[in-house]
Order: sequence, then structure tokens, then C-alpha cells
Amino acid sequence: MIRRDTTTENFGDYSSIASALFTFRVQAHFYHLNTKSFARHKALNELYDDLDDYIDSVSELLLGYQAPKRLDKLSVNVTYDTNEDQFPEKIVQFARKLEDFAAKNGLIELQNLAAEIEGSGAKAKYLFTLS
Ligand SMILES: [Fe+2]
Repeated sequence: MIRRDTTTENFGDYSSIASALFTFRVQAHFYHLNTKSFARHKALNELYDDLDDYIDSVSELLLGYQAPKRLDKLSVNVTYDTNEDQFPEKIVQFARKLEDFAAKNGLIELQNLAAEIEGSGAKAKYLFTLS
């Protein structure tokens, strides 16, 4: 029986990584606008600023890895969900999967950037505990 690698399966092509970051960026801004907590409003502002940076740094790194090929599609899939409670944890979980994928494929700088993304998510989790 062939064991399937579900972690790398989620990042079958680099476009899906960039698409996830674009999606998180839009979600963070939406939650920033909709929350009733000032602490979360500020935390989400910081998070979408960070995500702006990660969209660019991660995407350009991926383009370098696969040069001269370009990203072939972008899929921003934002669902309407007014509850931001689990959002920072979603960022952390995504980052850990990305880190794992990068480690398994020897993509050291992608691993570093994934660790930074995890840090931004963890910081937001902390800031969410403030009122
Ligand atoms: Fe704002």
C-alpha cells in the first residue's frame, strides 16, 4: 500500500501557497473591520500588514524556485464568516503545514518564511486575549 503524503498534497503547486496568503490577507482585513474588540482590531491590522509582506516575499521566493515559470493561477476564496476567534490559529496551522512541506522538500528559505508566518499568527493569538 502506498502511503499518501497529505501535507505536501495540500501544496501541490506553488500557486496554492500564494492563493492561501492572498485569502488570509483579505480575511484579516475583513475581521479588522468587523470586530468589536479594539485589541483584535489592532492585532488584525498588524496581521494584514504582515501578510502583505509575506504575499510578496513568499511569492517571489516561489517564483525564484520555479523560474522562469510563473504562478499559473490565483484563487482567493473568502467565505463570509463574522467570527474571527479561530483566525490566528488558522494562520499558525497553515504556517506549520507550510514549514513541514518546505522542510520535506529542502526549501530552506521557505521554511524560514513559514516560521515567520507562524510567529505572526502566534502573536495575534496572544493579542486576541487582550480586550
Ligand atoms: Fe483600519
